[in-house]
Amino acid sequence: MPALSKRAQSLGTENAFVVLAEVTALAAQGKDIISFCIGQPDFPAPLHVQEAGIRAIREGKHGYTPSAGIDPLREAAAKYMAGMRGGLPIRAQDVVIGAGAKPFIAYAILCTTDFGAGDEVIYPNPGFPIYESQIIACGAKPVPVQLREARDFAFDPAELEKLITPKTKLLVLNYPHNPTGGLLNRSSLEQIAKILQKHPHVWVYADEIYSRLCYSGEFFSIAQVPGMYERTIISDGASKTWAMTGWRIGFASNPELAPHFTRWITNTESCASQISQWAALEAITGPQDAAEMMKKSFFERGQLIVRLLNEVPGVTCRTPGGAFYAWPNVTEACRMVGAKDSEEFRKRLLNEAGVAVLADIHFGSRVPGEGQHLRFSYAASKLAIEQGVARMADFIRRNTRKVA
Ligand SMILES: Cc1ncc(COP(=O)(O)O)c(C=O)c1O
Repeated sequence: MPALSKRAQSLGTENAFVVLAEVTALAAQGKDIISFCIGQPDFPAPLHVQEAGIRAIREGKHGYTPSAGIDPLREAAAKYMAGMRGGLPIRAQDVVIGAGAKPFIAYAILCTTDFGAGDEVIYPNPGFPIYESQIIACGAKPVPVQLREARDFAFDPAELEKLITPKTKLLVLNYPHNPTGGLLNRSSLEQIAKILQKHPHVWVYADEIYSRLCYSGEFFSIAQVPGMYERTIISDGASKTWAMTGWRIGFASNPELAPHFTRWITNTESCASQISQWAALEAITGPQDAAEMMKKSFFERGQLIVRLLNEVPGVTCRTPGGAFYAWPNVTEACRMVGAKDSEEFRKRLLNEAGVAVLADIHFGSRVPGEGQHLRFSYAASKLAIEQGVARMADFIRRNTRKVA
């Protein structure tokens, strides 16, 4: 058998998909599982968006589009992204449409680092696992900046400053944050920008896919800080805001890099689905009541799950500032049931209590001194939240008795 490349052998993954396969297999055996695994809205795309997709099919919009996307969508996305971010001067030609926001992570790394040259990329840990896997696959050096519970999972700009070297090419920011739900507030972003002023060789990738799901006031982008716009790649998309994960539409903007992203798309998927692009145009320009309703619903469910998790023995949970993730600390719960870590706890929770969640190790190496965490995606019904957390509490109580 011919050999596999080292790159293919060492490629990381998004474990949500791996655990989802486990959950699906258990469900197929008839097990009753309540799942908090997958990071996507539990709503369908709004009806008028579905209809726009159907219309595009009926109108024969079946072919390739320019790699950067159809002009009306680039224009609408530019206006939308600017409007969400204090009126930044984003033009249609600065925006590229992709098959989801995810591909832009790789394109940004590919555009700013060289393979094997020792170029460094700083990224949040815990964090969306694709940052680290793509940094490594693209031949750059991953440099995690640690997020800490005491700071509500916003990293300390002083810690960031210590990590920047002449080899740093890219800083990845993500807020609202997956997996912790944490935010970077305006003052932190201004401090980060001040640090970056001293390091003009560093690009910023602002992963703002959850920008519409920010619960504490208006969303603020690092690109809005004076001097940051030109060097910031803003990434956003349709997946989370309009419940369109499977439609695969993302948009990234940067005046310098847009043509390079376009060329990467020509080299990979050619273009995003034309049908989805017309639907996304409707999502952006049409009525926003569904998006607002979903946001309100996620906010309420966030309040509910945090309250319930904090009532579970051995569990404490911070209130997320955005997205639809809760990141409870289960260090004490692990001790109570005799689980050596969050991953063992997660497996037992799945197999013995029928509750599917992800563990901290699915989002990077555990931060030293920060204990054990789980990720709950609370894009689930209120009933599922109540029953799922009750099962977890029951599991801990039952097993604590055995250990004691
Ligand atoms: C932080 C973060 N960035 C990017 C993405 C990718 O989203 P998309 O569906 O637009 O590819 C996700 C999806 O889970 C995410 O959590």
